[in-house]
Amino acid sequence: MSHILEIVYLIGSISFVLGLKMMGQPDTARKGNAVAAFGMGVSVLGTLFIGETGFSVIPHIGLILSAISLGVVVGTVMAKRVQMTAMPEMVSLFNGMGGLCAALISMIEWRALSGTGELQGLGFAHYLPVIAGLIIGTVSFVGSMVAWGKLNGSLGDFRFKGQQFINMMVLLAILVASGLTFVFLGADLSIMGFFGTLALSVVYGLLFVFPIGGADMPVVISLLNSFTGVAAACGGFLYHNNVMLMGGVLVGSAGTILTIVMCQAMNRSLTNVLIGAVGNSSSSGSGSSGGKGGSVREVQATDVAIMMKYASKVVIVPGYGLAVAQAQHVCHELESLLESEGVDVKYAIHPVAGRMPGHMNVLLAESNVSYDKLVEMEHINPEFGTTDTVLIVGANDVVNPAAKTDPASPIYGMPILDVDQSKQIVVLKRSMKSGYAGIDNELFFNPKCGMLFGDAKDSLQKLVNEIKAL
Ligand code: TAP
Repeated sequence: MSHILEIVYLIGSISFVLGLKMMGQPDTARKGNAVAAFGMGVSVLGTLFIGETGFSVIPHIGLILSAISLGVVVGTVMAKRVQMTAMPEMVSLFNGMGGLCAALISMIEWRALSGTGELQGLGFAHYLPVIAGLIIGTVSFVGSMVAWGKLNGSLGDFRFKGQQFINMMVLLAILVASGLTFVFLGADLSIMGFFGTLALSVVYGLLFVFPIGGADMPVVISLLNSFTGVAAACGGFLYHNNVMLMGGVLVGSAGTILTIVMCQAMNRSLTNVLIGAVGNSSSSGSGSSGGKGGSVREVQATDVAIMMKYASKVVIVPGYGLAVAQAQHVCHELESLLESEGVDVKYAIHPVAGRMPGHMNVLLAESNVSYDKLVEMEHINPEFGTTDTVLIVGANDVVNPAAKTDPASPIYGMPILDVDQSKQIVVLKRSMKSGYAGIDNELFFNPKCGMLFGDAKDSLQKLVNEIKAL
């Protein structure tokens, strides 16, 4: 590799690390994305136009540039059109494409090695990234496609007795097939082993994701994302391409860390997520009504407006419903209005509120809510005792006391926002339907709690109008 290309790859790698670091904070996240994209752009251009001895154009450049242009157009249109609530689906789809690329790289490499007769003498160190890229990339691609289908509602859950055992057997069969492929390299048995490994990986990808409950899909997507990173890193090993290796390792480790953080935020182990199947009954948040036998107190916008205008401290709890209603802008308007009336307003951010990590931060940042108003759960919880009114906007599971009080609840142990400590609670939602976990919420029957039914955006707009009219 030429020295110029090495320097270009170094710039790319540094940009990835810096970009990832910047993405950790809402105020620098957008810039971080641009920095990482710059690193990727520079690396791709370097690969295309810098050869062993200096500037040169690689073969098939016309085809490659056409593919890149197509990808840019499709990716840009999709990213511009996607609704915030459909982001997990899109992430899943894009992740699947990464897995497919890694698997195709392995197949192309295998074919190239067969063509040159190099397969017979292939060392294990060269064989390992080829076969690992094939297996992990295929599982990631197929799994991501299933996750995408489940999230957009076109695929349901699929389970049968002994599924975990069958999964283990398929995994074992993949190891055996890939082992045979190596032992008989160059012979017909090896070719059968290679394609057997591919077919079994497709089966494993299907069996792995199909039984997982809708509520756990974001965790699975994050896990598959880490798989794709590992598969891409295999490609980096294969081509001695440092920037590809670095990118793959970063995606792999970031995906793994995110998976762990999400599991911790739900107080569940990864094994429990993968075989526990929580939330199947209501994967789209349209579960049954919360009939708990008690009665709920319905309130009107006028009463809530008075309550908030004369409060000294209000905490807003945003949830998935805020995203569905696209109510972030009017929510910010309400916050500013209350602030102008001398009310101290903060947002309580639960780590798994919404449907993806940082969902609430991204939404509120979009409507220019100041970052210092977004308070993480562990910092806001001690403040609820001194809060006059807590306004829950389209959140449900993240404020469900069952997580603390009901050991039989599927969300038992999940840390929640202690909203019941505040003097008054107001919930903005459309009905008594459950949230993502598909379970009832006793908070709604708390005597301190008032329900303001309706679409979150409409209800917030009513509150703004009422406060202005007071
Ligand atoms: P949810 O528990 O899903 O509740 C959302 C509520 O919003 C629903 O009860 C729904 O009630 C209401 N809603 C929907 N559309 C609305 C609209 N247009 N206007 C007003 N309300 C509306 O949300 P949450 O509290 O944010 O909890 C997130 C859930 O997702 C948790 O169970 C969490 O474990 C899970 N999860 C999240 C993540 C990440 S990383 N965020 C990852 C994995 C799992 P109505 O239908 O009655 O309106």
